[in-house]
Amino acid sequence: MAHLRWWQRAIFYQIYPRSFADGNGDGIGDFAGMIAKLDYLQSLGVDALWLSPHFPSPNADLGYDVADYTGVAPEYGTLDDFKRFLDGAHARGMRVVLDLVLNHTSDQHPWFIESRRSRDNPKRDWYIWRDPAPDGGPPNNWNSVFGGSAWEFDPTTGQYYYHFFLKQQPDLNWRNPQVKAAMWQAVRFWLDMGVDGFRLDAIGTLFEDPAYPNHTARLSQIEMLRAWRENRPPEEQQALMAELMVMFRYQFGRPEVHTVMKELRALVDTYPGDRVLIGEDDDPAYYGNGDDELHLVFNFPLMRTNRLTPAWVRANQADRLSKLPPGAWPCNTLGNHDSTRLWSAFGDGQHDASIARVNAALLLTLPGTPVLYYGEEIGMTDLLLERFDQLRDNQAINLYHLALSDGLSPETAMGMAARMTRDRCRTPMQWANAPNAGFSPPGVQTWLPVNSNYAHGVNVADQTNDPRSLLNFYRRLIHLRKRTPALLSGGYMPVNEDAETYLAFLRRDPGADRACLVVLNMSAEPQVAGLALPWPTAHCLFSSHEREGQTVSLAALALAPFEVFIGQVGGGPAVS
Ligand code: NOJ
Repeated sequence: MAHLRWWQRAIFYQIYPRSFADGNGDGIGDFAGMIAKLDYLQSLGVDALWLSPHFPSPNADLGYDVADYTGVAPEYGTLDDFKRFLDGAHARGMRVVLDLVLNHTSDQHPWFIESRRSRDNPKRDWYIWRDPAPDGGPPNNWNSVFGGSAWEFDPTTGQYYYHFFLKQQPDLNWRNPQVKAAMWQAVRFWLDMGVDGFRLDAIGTLFEDPAYPNHTARLSQIEMLRAWRENRPPEEQQALMAELMVMFRYQFGRPEVHTVMKELRALVDTYPGDRVLIGEDDDPAYYGNGDDELHLVFNFPLMRTNRLTPAWVRANQADRLSKLPPGAWPCNTLGNHDSTRLWSAFGDGQHDASIARVNAALLLTLPGTPVLYYGEEIGMTDLLLERFDQLRDNQAINLYHLALSDGLSPETAMGMAARMTRDRCRTPMQWANAPNAGFSPPGVQTWLPVNSNYAHGVNVADQTNDPRSLLNFYRRLIHLRKRTPALLSGGYMPVNEDAETYLAFLRRDPGADRACLVVLNMSAEPQVAGLALPWPTAHCLFSSHEREGQTVSLAALALAPFEVFIGQVGGGPAVS
């Protein structure tokens, strides 16, 4: 097997700290809770934990509005608790990656409090301030991606400040070298402490077009908000994304970002231990030349549909892999704290449990580093909130108000908000069939409601004891991936590209006389796949239908509905 770096071998697992485990019984997840669950994470087999922001924050955007880059939010614990978590993860062979929010701070960050004080404050130029338009309105028609204008008037100094996200998240001015220096200090703080890298939030929005031209998009505010958060068929999704690009074309994707990424990479590379940078963006340009910007950039298009079909996965892989610079390593995910949960996004309402298994197998056999989202391994589903007062995501709250002001009824507005709010995928982790799903002690009101399906098998304890559970399916797959060199480093070769109902591909190391064959029946009907390969048979390594150890003929491979078949073809051992 080719020599791989740890983040190429690793399976990442995203923890949303607020929702993972409540150690002190206040209804909010914390480090004490996370520490108590490290053994679970180790037993799952994941290698690296990415924490959504754990920094002090007024929580307008639930941690993505950072008020102190080198602290720990009191509701999560202390810096010592963080260190115990880090040491505990390391002691179990797991790395820890933090969320670094570069684009903006909280409006409660001391830098912004200073900046807004006066026009000649030394920190004034740390943020983006502009005079009003001649009519006194905002400087241009740019939108915030969370709804409304991207400009907020500040009466103290009579100017507007710019915010791509909420008005409580003013954008930093990355053209100011002092901003960079301050942020790199925070980066060093955590690297010195021993963290293994960063997931970089919203890098595409670091710079704006310096001419501030008006955009010409036609999407309404409501359409814009829904476009970000609702999964649709691939063609529809692509068209909507194109329209979003028009709306935000002057507000992201600027070439200046690459200079910052290179600088950050150079900084990170001065540390021992191969620290990693993962970009929250899907533009392969952030790989730079393949080794001078980010190590990993998410393949988001794979996730942003409402159904994973063989054709869509093939098209996605062909497109994605052809766009990566030499040496760049792919990174796949099917869910995160901003999107519909895997189970809910791709299920058809009838075969959801089988579809979740097929998609887990897809994620864990495609080339590149997989990133799992907490709870995915037990089949947690989106929770449809019923009442306005349950919403915690300000993007959805904005949508609700916009819908009301458009004349929609409160019921319709709430229905829309419930479908798009990111709260739906952020509910407490379901540990057991116990009050509050074992996330918080009984009787405690959790920060978001617990999904009641914990009582119907969607919890860790029940699934641990059931050999046929989704959790144990993930465990087996994770184990297979880790001990199968071709699944880690092998090239990707699609097979039978015209097949509409099943996806088949090979993973093969260059020059190897054997390969791993993955066949996923993505349909509810039995299929017979005639696979014209140089090998007549495959030895089954993994199956959703108990075929492990069997030798099967590839000329007519019979597949049960939604069957997952992973086999070895060719000589020599496939498994190390
Ligand atoms: C992307 C994060 O994933 C999302 O949760 C957050 O709201 C925005 N960036 C702003 O930080």
